[in-house]
Amino acid sequence: MSTNLEKHYQKVIDENNLEQLRDILVSKDSALSNRFRALFNLKCVAEKFAVDPVDANKAVNYMAETFGDDSELLKHEVAYVLGQTKNMESTTILRHVMLDAAQQPMVRHEAAEALGALGAEVALDDLQKCLDNDPHPAVKQTAELAIARIQWEHSPAAETEKLQQSLYESTDPAPPLALEKEYNVAELQSLLNNQDKPMFERYRAMFRLRDLDTEEAIHALASGFNDPSALFKHEIAYVFGQMGTPLAVPVLTEVLGRMEEAPMVRHEAAEALGAIATPEVVPVLKKYLDDEVDVVRESAIVALDMYAYENSNEFEYAPTA
Ligand SMILES: [Fe+2]
Ligand SMILES: [Fe+2]
Repeated sequence: MSTNLEKHYQKVIDENNLEQLRDILVSKDSALSNRFRALFNLKCVAEKFAVDPVDANKAVNYMAETFGDDSELLKHEVAYVLGQTKNMESTTILRHVMLDAAQQPMVRHEAAEALGALGAEVALDDLQKCLDNDPHPAVKQTAELAIARIQWEHSPAAETEKLQQSLYESTDPAPPLALEKEYNVAELQSLLNNQDKPMFERYRAMFRLRDLDTEEAIHALASGFNDPSALFKHEIAYVFGQMGTPLAVPVLTEVLGRMEEAPMVRHEAAEALGAIATPEVVPVLKKYLDDEVDVVRESAIVALDMYAYENSNEFEYAPTA
């Protein structure tokens, strides 16, 4: 979920109380876009745990009720949101979801990533279990990354390293490479694509490139789409959605069109196109409204809903879910 999408879905329904938001979120009869709006409205409440812990924890537990749903897309977004709230109330449910073989891979992945974002030391043993036992490579790699991030956050390096102030509000799966060492884009690109390095290091190069935000850095990031790891490629797509750069539209369009590509990668490419939201993304996304992969089809619906909402004078679109 990109920052742009998130900002979009935080609007609209603040006038509902917590229970109404929960009812919209868990109702399979609500349009998917409304369920997303309810989710991001609940997130705003869950974040305020220092001021209003009772409502904040209620919001967390209402969000967690969604894990009984079937939609892989919605549940993974819930896990993402729980990880971004900094509210530790969710660590128990996230550990459970991560290790639950009945949850789909993107949901288990996002639960593991959320535990990393929370810096949840209490989850280290379960993350190790996930790393050892999960059958899905992208989930395993997420557990490896989350362990590295938690260890980093609780190490002296987290205090002493100088990091560029991020333009984005997200807690990322890894911090950018520290500013103490100078890198040019070519060096960052080679670290990014070096499959012999730990994923955590490669992600640190990715986020340093994101924060450079130059055309050269964008091309370097796009080179990551040739990697064998679905996890890695989906993160590149996520980063492009965050940056909101129209320069990434051609490569994201190509990645979304790779029918043999992992669903999580195509899903993230669709969401990134929705976040970039230039007129050229509309015909691209419309092509995937009937995609046979659920998370791709639902991402196209959500992305087009956002586009229509932001550009409601220019384009008419009725959400179908
Ligand atoms: Fe993800
Ligand atoms: Fe995602």
